[in-house]
Amino acid sequence: MLNISEILSISPIIPVAIIPDGVDAVELARALSSGGINIIEVTLRTPSAIDSIRSISSALKDVCVGAGTVWNADDAEQVIDAGAQFIVSPAFVQTVFEVCTKRSIPYLPGLATVTEAAHCAELGLSAVKVFPANIVGGPAAIKAFASVLPDLKYCPTGGVNLELASDYLALDNVVCVGGSWVIQKDKILAGDWTSVEKTAQDTLKQLS
Ligand code: 3PG
Repeated sequence: MLNISEILSISPIIPVAIIPDGVDAVELARALSSGGINIIEVTLRTPSAIDSIRSISSALKDVCVGAGTVWNADDAEQVIDAGAQFIVSPAFVQTVFEVCTKRSIPYLPGLATVTEAAHCAELGLSAVKVFPANIVGGPAAIKAFASVLPDLKYCPTGGVNLELASDYLALDNVVCVGGSWVIQKDKILAGDWTSVEKTAQDTLKQLS
């Protein structure tokens, strides 16, 4: 089992996936992986999300699959049973934190203020998601967070694109960003895995 720092080091970008019903989640994760991105966050925003996590986890051993938009303990238990290796929430959720602690699964909660960051640090978390990063204040805000809480790692997510990703990744306390822009909806609906792979590849090239 990977810890949060190992998970955040897999790739400079964690693709945030909202997988519509009917889309082959394994092919999606495989295309990202063929393009060099061996991690995916499947958000619980579509009915097939938990099945998608289960399928990716059993079919692709080299891909680290996590669950996103996890708001309650029941969903947290279910995604862990399905094979999720990390859990992300848009905000800190105490009950999800407790399930993750009990099941020894890394938890990456979202936050938008230094007060919340201090709370997460107090609980012993070493990394947090800043969400929605651009509205919170972009790279300048994360720089300010890190100047007072330098031991935390920050994963900016929300409104991130390729250009902004480079600005965030230039900061010492940012090892990766999250974003849905690498997974284009029209491409996955069309099953155009070659384009998904190429976008992943181009994204990595530009971020390295
Ligand atoms: C998330 O759940 O982290 C966000 O929806 C991702 O934000 P983005 O779609 O602006 O990349």
